[in-house]
Amino acid sequence: MDSILVTGGGPLNGQIPIAGAKNACLTLMPATLLSDEPLTLTNAPRLSDIATMTMLLQSLGAEVSSLQGGQVLAMSSHDLNNLTADYDIVRKMRASILVLGPMLARAGQAVVSLPGGCAIGARPVDLHLKALEALGAEMELKDGYVHAKAPGGLKGGVVDFPIVSVGATENVLMAATLAKGTTVINNAAREPEIVDLAHCLQKMGAQIEGEGTSTLTVQGVDRLHGATHPVVTDRIELGTYMLAPVICGGEVELLGGRLDLVGAFVEKLEQCGVDVTETKSGLLVKRRGDRVQAVDVVTEPFPGFPTDLQAQMMALLCTAEGISVLEEKIFENRFMHAPELIRMGANIDVHGGTATVTGVERLKGAPVMATDLRASVSLILAGLAAEGETRVSRVYHLDRGYERVVSKLEAVGAKIERISGQ
Ligand code: UD1
Repeated sequence: MDSILVTGGGPLNGQIPIAGAKNACLTLMPATLLSDEPLTLTNAPRLSDIATMTMLLQSLGAEVSSLQGGQVLAMSSHDLNNLTADYDIVRKMRASILVLGPMLARAGQAVVSLPGGCAIGARPVDLHLKALEALGAEMELKDGYVHAKAPGGLKGGVVDFPIVSVGATENVLMAATLAKGTTVINNAAREPEIVDLAHCLQKMGAQIEGEGTSTLTVQGVDRLHGATHPVVTDRIELGTYMLAPVICGGEVELLGGRLDLVGAFVEKLEQCGVDVTETKSGLLVKRRGDRVQAVDVVTEPFPGFPTDLQAQMMALLCTAEGISVLEEKIFENRFMHAPELIRMGANIDVHGGTATVTGVERLKGAPVMATDLRASVSLILAGLAAEGETRVSRVYHLDRGYERVVSKLEAVGAKIERISGQ
């Protein structure tokens, strides 16, 4: 198993290109199952989660070709010859559940294993199933699999989500495009990845209104056709690398960065003493003083502060001046990075969904372990600011969501290397 060795030190200067969004790509890819014509995605990120989704789609009979070094995904689902998403693939990634809605809509039936993914809480799929039931699907749970049927096809209906769910909104949105009649989705997620999915589906001929708001209205159509669509910028990768010059000093331009993708996050950065400026090619980030000031953070669905940037923000606040309180409202078990940061000298007190961070002047390098995707990158950020060496092990989590992390950080002057087999 590989590890990443980071030596803390000087400021970071230069440019970092931001890739297409993992989470957008993982929902755009299953959209290919809705049509027998080709769907091509450009600006795709090169990540192990994308490889997993490729394998899953191929196992269902879709053709997926990775072109231009993985940045273009050419997909075609002319024949769906298998309607079972197998446990062996699904267990690797929770987003696999996103094939359920499209398969059901196109073929009238689907069998999908219950998913695995990051260990950040229970993360059930009840909302996905209930939403599809509102469109007339019949569900049965048997031997760890969801058996779904829609005899006579899906029918438009009203979906009232009790809480905002990104994945469940995506699943039912895709399914509704081919359902007979009108579907109204209330309390829908408003994440940029949902807007991106809606735009792609619209290019395929879907009739969707209200993307980016809490109410989505979908008029079902008989069939969808082919399309080519660029994947939206990864706002989580963007936010993560924006923190690098804030933690280490220096000035970094994030190429492709957009303020509208990271509004609530930028607001917090500005409050704690960071300048973020729009440039022709993206966003320029620079810390104002020697140390940032403490700030309180509550994670919320978009447009609130994203849970996927909570661990990275905590890494920053470990060395802020003062006491910060971070409240995690989306996932109940998402502070697994805290004990690792404490090993590096951070002062963090976790009680339930609240972490109180008392800033220290400097962290100290230590061997630490990545526990999930976002936690792993928070430890790299902490290592960049720490005195001495930090070795982050279990970096396979990182490969799921960050492409070329070592070369991107090296290019702005970070001392970081990947060590094979340790
Ligand atoms: C997506 C993102 C993930 C991000 C999360 C929240 C992808 C591939 N992943 O995950 O990176 O952290 O949004 O922004 O896009 N819930 C239920 N029942 C369900 C579904 C969800 O109770 O059927 C709960 C979850 O446990 C969680 C909350 O709803 O507490 C929100 O989860 P959700 O928005 O569905 O997250 P994902 O789509 O899994």
